[in-house]
Amino acid sequence: MLQIRVKPGIEDKIRGFFPWIYRPEIASYSRKPKKGELVVVRDFGGKFLGYGYINPEVSIAVRILSFDKEEPITPDLIRKRIKQAYEYRKRLYINSNAYRLVHSEGDLLPGLIVDVYGEYAVVEFTTYGMSRFKDTIVSALVEVLRPKGIYEKANQTAIKVEGIEVKEGALYGEVPQETIIWEHDLKFIINIPEGQKTGFFLDQRNARKFVRSLVEPGDRCLDVFSHTGGFALNMKKMGAKEVVAVDLSGLALEVGKRNEKLNGLSGIKWVEANAFDFLRELDRKGEKFDVVVIDPPSFAKNRHAVPNALRGYKELCVRGLRITKTGGYMAIFSCSFHITEQHLLEVLTQASYDVRRQVRVIAKTFQDLDHPWILQMPNTLYLKGVWVEVV
Ligand SMILES: C[S@@+](CC[C@H](N)C(=O)[O-])C[C@H]1O[C@@H](n2cnc3c(N)ncnc32)[C@H](O)[C@@H]1O
Repeated sequence: MLQIRVKPGIEDKIRGFFPWIYRPEIASYSRKPKKGELVVVRDFGGKFLGYGYINPEVSIAVRILSFDKEEPITPDLIRKRIKQAYEYRKRLYINSNAYRLVHSEGDLLPGLIVDVYGEYAVVEFTTYGMSRFKDTIVSALVEVLRPKGIYEKANQTAIKVEGIEVKEGALYGEVPQETIIWEHDLKFIINIPEGQKTGFFLDQRNARKFVRSLVEPGDRCLDVFSHTGGFALNMKKMGAKEVVAVDLSGLALEVGKRNEKLNGLSGIKWVEANAFDFLRELDRKGEKFDVVVIDPPSFAKNRHAVPNALRGYKELCVRGLRITKTGGYMAIFSCSFHITEQHLLEVLTQASYDVRRQVRVIAKTFQDLDHPWILQMPNTLYLKGVWVEVV
């Protein structure tokens, strides 16, 4: 097997279970590496550090799957990790038949995402090295889930950066265009082939539940970046008199309308618009809401994009605070890997100062429990939300 040695000093972070090795951190190779092949990682003096896979063409060249000399990477190890991921999800009380079964590094399977939607599973590979285990992964999923179908979804970044070849479609059984899942007491239509991500934003499940504690019958609520109405439906379910849901995606809003009907609800106003323009317009008209939830897509795809992204979050906070009633609530989320909780709190502090509205923090929420994160990689806690009351 290919062997690499890392530069002096790099071994400490690997001994501390940090699973990535960047290309410049590699001192030597036992031979020319091939994309996706397995590798033994050693310190500069030759002592064992871990087993991983390598892609010499990308910046994160090695991802380590095992720090245990007795546990090399084999199909059995992959199968074992998938079973462990499943056993953990079985313990969780998430009150839904849709959940993330494998969360990449968080389940010690870097490069693999598996989301379950009732009787179907959706697989996404984000690294070339992991995609080489596709057959093992599919057979392990069939064994633990007994699904009706498994669908492979293309991750465009991985295709571009890692050079993975993906033909979107069923890897096992048959997968319909749409399926219906339940979360708490609501049902949602999931369009697996055409929906965003693998079909649904599973990571916000706990926040969608939390919003229920803030909405009172008769309230006026706003769901900004609503997708298929995750927050809007929960707001309506709690008896909000008026709910406005805004998103740029016509497809998401169409599904949202159908979700509303499916749940026997009515009266949500679905607006196809750019959220920034829409918020500006609401502010200009002096509109006010009791509960405002702002859940934008990732604005910072890499660390160079952080300053611009912060300007975007600040603008959202400024507009959001201005249209929240005194005594009302606003939530702002960031799902950007490169934006920290501290960034979000600072942006909120500046916005509160600028718009002269005092706020108190009533809660913080993070990606739900089926998205575990790595202690040594704080950024893997990628989704953070701050909930404030305007006092
Ligand atoms: C993180 S998702 C929201 C998930 C949603 N809150 C849920 O619980 O399902 C972000 C959404 O923002 C939408 N979006 C992206 N850019 C937008 C923009 N400029 N204006 C409005 N919506 C936008 C996307 O279509 C996507 O549905």
